[in-house]
Amino acid sequence: MCGIFAYYGDRTDAAKIVIKGLKELEYRGYDSWGVAYKTEDEIKITKEVGKIGDIKLTEQKFEKSKIAIGHSRWATHGGVNKKNAHPHSSTNKEIVLVHNGIFENYLEVKTKLEKKGYKFKSDTDTEVIAHLIYEHSKKHNFKDSIKKAIEEIEGRFAIVIINKENNNLIAARKGSPLIVGVGKTEGEYFIASDIPAFLQHTNKVIYLDDNQLLEIKNKNIKFFNLKEEKETKKRIIEIEWNVESAEKGDYPHFMIKEIMEQKDTLSRAINQDSKKIEKLAAAIKNAYGTYFVGCGTAGKVCMVGEYLFAKISKKHINFSFGSEFPNYKDFLTEKTLMLCVSQSGETADTLEAIEIAKSKKVKIASIVNVESSTMARISDITIPIKAGPEKAVASTKATTSQLAILTLLAYACDGGIYKGKQLLINTASQINDMLNPRYEDHIMEIAKKIQHVESMYIIGRGMNYPIALEAAIKLQEVSYIHAEGFAGGELKHGPIALISKNTPVIALVANDDCKKEILANATEVKARGGYIIGVSPENHPVFDYWIKVPDTGNSSPIVNIIPIQILAYQLAVLRKNDPDKPRNLAKSVTVK
Ligand code: F6R
Repeated sequence: MCGIFAYYGDRTDAAKIVIKGLKELEYRGYDSWGVAYKTEDEIKITKEVGKIGDIKLTEQKFEKSKIAIGHSRWATHGGVNKKNAHPHSSTNKEIVLVHNGIFENYLEVKTKLEKKGYKFKSDTDTEVIAHLIYEHSKKHNFKDSIKKAIEEIEGRFAIVIINKENNNLIAARKGSPLIVGVGKTEGEYFIASDIPAFLQHTNKVIYLDDNQLLEIKNKNIKFFNLKEEKETKKRIIEIEWNVESAEKGDYPHFMIKEIMEQKDTLSRAINQDSKKIEKLAAAIKNAYGTYFVGCGTAGKVCMVGEYLFAKISKKHINFSFGSEFPNYKDFLTEKTLMLCVSQSGETADTLEAIEIAKSKKVKIASIVNVESSTMARISDITIPIKAGPEKAVASTKATTSQLAILTLLAYACDGGIYKGKQLLINTASQINDMLNPRYEDHIMEIAKKIQHVESMYIIGRGMNYPIALEAAIKLQEVSYIHAEGFAGGELKHGPIALISKNTPVIALVANDDCKKEILANATEVKARGGYIIGVSPENHPVFDYWIKVPDTGNSSPIVNIIPIQILAYQLAVLRKNDPDKPRNLAKSVTVK
């Protein structure tokens, strides 16, 4: 949520380097963008409303500069307009900064500053930070004035700041990610919210931890804990991701590229250290109360996990969305286990749930894609899904890899990890066969038919009930069609009133013990005029349109969601939406 990119080095086109980096981070927010850069004698600021992806670098004119900071915004405080776009500054640009996160008590601080005569140009919480740092700078040096300001800020944030006085650059974080890329020439640094933004320059990184600050001064970088004076030593880590894995290649959009990558990503998820999976499975088995926690799509994956564990390992799991987890705090003990699922590993609601669990000494496990993320680093056990960068806002390949790991864990919990691996290897090979242009054409036929509908519904039962909910999220977020998922059995208790002639209803019909009932539910819908799209290994007379999926037993959630991902993508394209950057959304939700 909000992308930050900064450059410090010897190249003289710092502003352009920053804009290029921001383009890679656009998936984190695309309401507006802005860059601030230092010339010989001043700080220049350029801001625009809209997507930075639309900006042609060749048409941009910037003066020479070796230091720049930039931001791609997902609006929180204040509307989407130029005055609220970052960077923000103090009155005479003494302090200029970019910010990701939320300054919760900003109104209180703003009132205090207003009483001292400060005037505000924007409606943002960020501008308050700029003035606050400036106020402290009257008594302290640049670094200490930032530390003093941070003492007054409640909430999660990542900030990068430059000032008029000198050529130092400072960044600090609490809760929101910031990573340093160490450039190839001496004293060159990139600072970004996510690694792919600077992969074209370097794969050497240093992670800024929570409550840490970094200062770049005279080409030297130093790290400090916010509450300590003395320097903290940090390690440079070489990461495996390469530029190609973060590029679109020949695909028109990241979303379809990432859907197609599921040919490989599933195998990568399951072909990892079995001992680690078995260790976590044993921890789940022995825990006195296990919570699976995630948000959005990752939350739906956790819900599937609840069913998988009930069915495969006869183990009861509690599910909670990250934002709802505080309601369970009284049930947490040292014997509880919390398993968090997250693509980014930076989702604020899930991180906050972890903080609550940690305060009760709960053991924390996580299944994440971004191995360098906060969640991975604060967990006692982390299983990486190894899906590679996921850049489209709608989660696809991460979802199926997370599902695969949970399936494997459920088998391992029952002592059958080998059986689980076999099932998933077979599933991966069937997905490989399924993902071909003919299959896409087949789904396109139904996409064209339903592209103008106002509403659609998805029904499933058992472990495919959460997949019906996930299917609805996928369709909503990129097609903007009203889509809702229901448990098949619940229809008759209310939602069936929504069905009229030709309302599309997708029925997820796996070859499992729910098959008869879900077909009966589809028949009830059809009797009220509904148009039934069956996602199933076999055709059935109740289906008006049949989308064939392989018969994969307990991994049916994995194969059932893939055609819906394709359908959602195709609907987005047909309806002229941007599938990679759907309206109002952002990847990595780092605000509560
Ligand atoms: C939907 C989607 C979101 C995320 C949610 C959690 O396609 O991507 O619902 O699943 O914001 O994000 P992570 O997995 O990064 O914790």
